[in-house]
Amino acid sequence: MICQLINIKKIYSTGKVNFPALNGIDLIIEKGEYTAIMGPSGSGKSTLLNIIGFLDTPTEGKYFYQGKEVSNLDDDELARLRNKEVGFVFQNFNLLPRLTAFSNVELPLIYAGIGIKERRKLVMEMLEKVGLKERANHRPNELSGGEMQRVAIARALVNNPSLILADEPTGNLDTKSGSEIMKIFDQLANEGRTIIIVTHDPNIASHTKRLIRITDGRIIEDKIVK
Ligand SMILES: Nc1ncnc2c1ncn2[C@@H]1O[C@H](COP(=O)(O)OP(=O)(O)O)[C@@H](O)[C@H]1O
Ligand SMILES: [Mg+2]
Repeated sequence: MICQLINIKKIYSTGKVNFPALNGIDLIIEKGEYTAIMGPSGSGKSTLLNIIGFLDTPTEGKYFYQGKEVSNLDDDELARLRNKEVGFVFQNFNLLPRLTAFSNVELPLIYAGIGIKERRKLVMEMLEKVGLKERANHRPNELSGGEMQRVAIARALVNNPSLILADEPTGNLDTKSGSEIMKIFDQLANEGRTIIIVTHDPNIASHTKRLIRITDGRIIEDKIVK
């Protein structure tokens, strides 16, 4: 297994009010699984994905990643793990507006200390994989929403992460661009990648092999759908 969460709780404290966003999540993700997490707005989907991807830490519970406990790591250790292990795709793409598609995809490789020749090769391979080789020198404002999200996917993949996490990746896209994005995730799943997609769109969830439903910070259903 790649991720094991045991009784994970997350309580947000804002002033005097404590809000329990996750109320005891038990979850195992196996290597190569293709999973959707669905649930109403505010049910804790993003909180859960962020904890799985080391963007946030639980208030209680244990998280084992590839067999190693990661519940109590400090910020530096979490950042290192995140950069090495996780490719994140967000609803609003999160591209740097002043950088070209090429440079956006190149950034994680610069952080990882990869040399310029190898970087160039890997970036162009990834842009080709998402069908954007000919857009390498375009900035985000010269790209459509679907193209921006494909750049974001290339950036998420370029470090060869063990885990691909996407939070409402088609939420800002029209139906056609959304289905192009899902084709890319389907292809990555077929290659054996481990992918978790948060969505409230049943059409998106129909692509994945496992469906987890959460409500009020609890898993209410977890089933294999194909
Ligand atoms: N940083 C935060 N501080 C306080 N409350 C938060 C914070 N982030 C999320 N929440 C609350 O936790 C709940 C779950 O949020 P979230 O995980 O973003 O839900 P979802 O992604 O399912 O819409 C929501 O009620 C939200 O308002
Ligand atoms: Mg969310």
